[in-house]
Amino acid sequence: MVERHLAKVNVARSNRVARFCKTESERVEWKGGSCSVLTLAGLCAMAITIHHFKQWKQDGRPIVALTAWDCLLAKVLDEAGVDLILVGDSLAMVALGYDTTLPITLDEMLHHTKAVCRGVTKALVVCDLPFLSYQESPQQALSVAGQVLKETQAKAVKLEGGYPAMAETVQFLTQRGIPVMGHVGLTPQSVHQFGGYRKQGKDPDSAERILEEAIALESAGAFAVVLEHIPADLAATITHKLKIPTIGIGAGSNCDGQVLVTADLLGLSDWQPPFAKPYANLRQSVADAVQGFSQEVRSHKF
Ligand code: KIV
Repeated sequence: MVERHLAKVNVARSNRVARFCKTESERVEWKGGSCSVLTLAGLCAMAITIHHFKQWKQDGRPIVALTAWDCLLAKVLDEAGVDLILVGDSLAMVALGYDTTLPITLDEMLHHTKAVCRGVTKALVVCDLPFLSYQESPQQALSVAGQVLKETQAKAVKLEGGYPAMAETVQFLTQRGIPVMGHVGLTPQSVHQFGGYRKQGKDPDSAERILEEAIALESAGAFAVVLEHIPADLAATITHKLKIPTIGIGAGSNCDGQVLVTADLLGLSDWQPPFAKPYANLRQSVADAVQGFSQEVRSHKF
């Protein structure tokens, strides 16, 4: 209602609005001097909400997602125009030095999510629920997801697994107003059950199971689903079947969006999965900078 009313406002009267619209061309649609509802979503808070995701799927607009674990990095990603910033529990390994994602606690996730949210004005921030903070029961998941939304500025949570237990939990959360992103395929919190970080869905039975899980998550109200380390043709089939967007990682290019662990994207990690593609070599750049600094300090040049 408010949006509809605002949509009729002639934005030409506001230079500030006009400036904003120019820089937000993807979200802006000029209609004879008035701006569209989508523009207003941007104007009201400049924030991406879960409702953009379904629309983007319909429009065939790919979704860009990356992980973050602190405010500085989140700010850079947000300013670079990333759509979704995931405070993934991969930060356990990437930023905290744990061997797997299993040991990270809810308090640690809350701490990092708060920091990330302080750096973000526009991207949708999603917080991973850590291992055993939601698997016990839908009630446990509700209490933990509620705490995440109350104590941080995250707008949604992500949890791993699908049908039947997790789909029931996702439904329990979404029916109570908590947006949820699903995650199927290689779900790292189950690493010991998988016997390693192995590609999933390679045989017909497990491919069928993953497809069913994704469908169940959509029926349960998830607004998007991560497909991790599964064959590209399976990811394409799931993407075709679902109305909600699929966000792939190691699942081929036929998903509605892609997510990477940002340390892998930047070439910072000391180990990265085979499907991760580095777009920079920051590990080398940092080492070079540190060596340059060390030399100048040791030679009294700086
Ligand atoms: O924890 C994480 O970073 C994730 C992504 C790999 C999707 O779950």
